[in-house]
Amino acid sequence: MPMTEYQDTGPLKIGPDLDLSNLPGKSVIVTGGASGLGRAYVEAFAKAGSFVTIADFNETAGKEVVQNLAGKAQFVKCDVRNWDDQVRVFEAAVEASPHKSCDIVIANAGIVGKDDLYTLQDPHGPPVKPDLRIVEINLIGTIYTAKLAMHYMRRQPLESSRDRCLIIKASIAAYIDNAGSPQYNISKFGARALMRNLRRTIWEENIRVNLVAPWYVRTPILGQKVQDYLDGQGVGFALTEDAAKAMLKIASDTSVNGRALGIVPRVTAPEGYMDLDKDDYKEGDIVKTWQEIALATTRFLVE
Ligand SMILES: NC(=O)c1ccc[n+]([C@@H]2O[C@H](COP(=O)([O-])OP(=O)(O)OC[C@H]3O[C@@H](n4cnc5c(N)ncnc54)[C@H](O)[C@@H]3O)[C@@H](O)[C@H]2O)c1
Repeated sequence: MPMTEYQDTGPLKIGPDLDLSNLPGKSVIVTGGASGLGRAYVEAFAKAGSFVTIADFNETAGKEVVQNLAGKAQFVKCDVRNWDDQVRVFEAAVEASPHKSCDIVIANAGIVGKDDLYTLQDPHGPPVKPDLRIVEINLIGTIYTAKLAMHYMRRQPLESSRDRCLIIKASIAAYIDNAGSPQYNISKFGARALMRNLRRTIWEENIRVNLVAPWYVRTPILGQKVQDYLDGQGVGFALTEDAAKAMLKIASDTSVNGRALGIVPRVTAPEGYMDLDKDDYKEGDIVKTWQEIALATTRFLVE
């Protein structure tokens, strides 16, 4: 069924049941699928009967994941910063999947780390060009993935049983101030901006786009020191399996579009994920008026 323009219909209702009956045979791409959350997504989709292509630069870990999934997944070595690497991933996904298709794309690869925008150099020495690796991986890599998803999804004929689904990975850092990590903050706000932008137009191509934004989850990205600190403060973690469930929910429920699901501790939401409902303005907010005017005019700017 053709999609209609994005409308805010209020927060998504989330219950315990998932109907995964439309996932078998789907071709799913997961960037950063060799470890942590990405690995959990790969395993969850393979279990649901989809065929998964892992795009990651960690070859050892990626091949190990594939080995345990006997024929339901393949690994393609890829640095998401490299456009040609990503093209190879999408070509391989189409080639090896049961319907020669590209149905579900999860732009997940990301890093944290020391940030030159925060760590300032000697003011008396020469200015030092910052290393922008975090933005390059988390944001530019995600932009490449989204662009390729749109390209390859548009190539295939629409079938009633298969839809086109792009899922962009952000973080709660797309909604809060992350002191000391400007690039992480920028990249996750940017990923969120990408979802909000695309939801206004790619419905015309019958592509759904949604965002997944986790709170802290115990994966290798956090490191023991951060986890110990959070434990010491009594901060609850969100769970990897709940992040995977949220991905399955978005991929399997074709009514979900333009929403941002937060992955949160179960004390906050019983299923461990919830509609954040922070990406639409409510009646009476002046920004809602500006948003409506912008929707009517911004396309003129690119004519
Ligand atoms: N774990 C958390 O607390 C948390 C919270 C919010 C958001 N996230 C986001 O979730 C995503 C996955 O994180 P994770 O926790 O699973 O971390 P992780 O370190 O376990 O996994 C990240 C994966 O991305 C891959 N990767 C890194 N740079 C790459 C590149 N240039 N090209 C290809 N692959 C690359 C790594 O090899 C690794 O397999 C990230 O975008 C992260 O920002 C994580």
